[in-house]
Amino acid sequence: MLNPVLQKILDAETSRQQNTLDLIASENFTSAAVREAVGSVFMHKYSEGYPGARYYEGNENIDELENLCIEMVTKVFNLPSNWSANVQPLAGSNANLAVYNAILNPGDKILSMYLPDGGHLSHGWSYTPTKDRSDKDIQDLASDKPYYGGSTKISIVSKIFNVVQYKVAKDTSILDYSAIEQLAMQEKPKLIITGGTAYPREIDYKKMREIADKVGAYYLADIAHEAGLIAVGVLNSPIGIADVVTFTTHKTLRGPKGAVIAAKEEIIKLINKSIMPGLQGGPHNGTIAGITQALFEADTPEFKEYAAQVVENAKTLAGKLSELGYSLVSGGTDKHLILIDLTAKNLGGKFASYALNSAGIVTNKSTIPYESQSPVNPSGIRLGTPLITTRGLKEAEMIKLANLIDSVIKEAATLPLDDFEFFKQQIDSSQAIKEVKEKVQQLCSQFPFKV
Ligand SMILES: Cc1ncc(COP(=O)(O)O)c(C=O)c1O
Repeated sequence: MLNPVLQKILDAETSRQQNTLDLIASENFTSAAVREAVGSVFMHKYSEGYPGARYYEGNENIDELENLCIEMVTKVFNLPSNWSANVQPLAGSNANLAVYNAILNPGDKILSMYLPDGGHLSHGWSYTPTKDRSDKDIQDLASDKPYYGGSTKISIVSKIFNVVQYKVAKDTSILDYSAIEQLAMQEKPKLIITGGTAYPREIDYKKMREIADKVGAYYLADIAHEAGLIAVGVLNSPIGIADVVTFTTHKTLRGPKGAVIAAKEEIIKLINKSIMPGLQGGPHNGTIAGITQALFEADTPEFKEYAAQVVENAKTLAGKLSELGYSLVSGGTDKHLILIDLTAKNLGGKFASYALNSAGIVTNKSTIPYESQSPVNPSGIRLGTPLITTRGLKEAEMIKLANLIDSVIKEAATLPLDDFEFFKQQIDSSQAIKEVKEKVQQLCSQFPFKV
């Protein structure tokens, strides 16, 4: 039995998840079987090392589990015969760090996507505080020039490596492959990375491979967000094209929080050493069991239907939001996520996401390409469909949802925005927000989370 204090928090969180529509693009609900595997006795075992070569005794079942997990990664992601996987990374950021630790030396150059355009912190990030920016810094930030970083190193990746970042095209907010190629030729990075956390379009992995080959760079495709959609062919796959592919297991793949690295055998050998003893101790075996279960679930026709529906839902939601007058970064989406540019609505992402959450629609604020506002109150909000599709919502509900989002944004935009605390009070007592909340509750009861 859980301690009553803990039980109370758990009940509150279960109720929050049950009674809100979660549009966070990186979240999902897992099956009861995945949660059972994560919480199983597998979590008790220390198993530093790899199958057949452990530091502790008693790992015969864990060896079987880890081999099964690798087998399922191979099957579900259709790994070529000369590829393998490491399923021990504790998270996506660690998986990326393990790749750098395996193939780079301190000071080597990485070319990755600019963070405010939708890149990820684990691909490197540093910035110069606003008060210290020169006129040239300000001009460069507002231009489509590549980003060479700033004085304050935020991510450990930028402390160790020399990180240069490519931006999306100013007119389309889509990757400009010829500009990336030119930059790669000029900078000669040792590693090129694609992938991000708020980029709504597909990536041309073949083109990126060609660019990497032209400059003799390794190519890492980080598919943290898209893994579930790629596994079943709803999106193109970089497997067999990039040198290394990393992904998290808890987003579109619907598993527990964890990550996997897939690569050619010779690189996986380096990555295995990089993970253990390089970066981590014992793996989380409960998590590896949960990932294995999620992979069994992904290897079904139902999951393929689910993944296709995730994208259909995102496209329908994007279409209706556009119709309602919202400006979408890149004009729409190819996958599970949408980025709304609220500049014309005069409402910062911090205010919009607070108002939506108050109505039971959970999103996150986000920077947009060529962001002019602070990341504390950026110009965008990010919406994703993986979790609401797991609940069973389809196209008809996406239209309802777009209208509900619109009602909230309209109400929020009528309020004074100079004092956030006052704004919160107004939102929390707004009749219009309460009415939306009731409609959200109705949808939640119609599409319950099966605990
Ligand atoms: C592209 C990308 N890479 C890596 C990660 C890091 O994953 P984690 O939060 O598991 O460290 C994320 C998380 O959102 C991501 O979007």
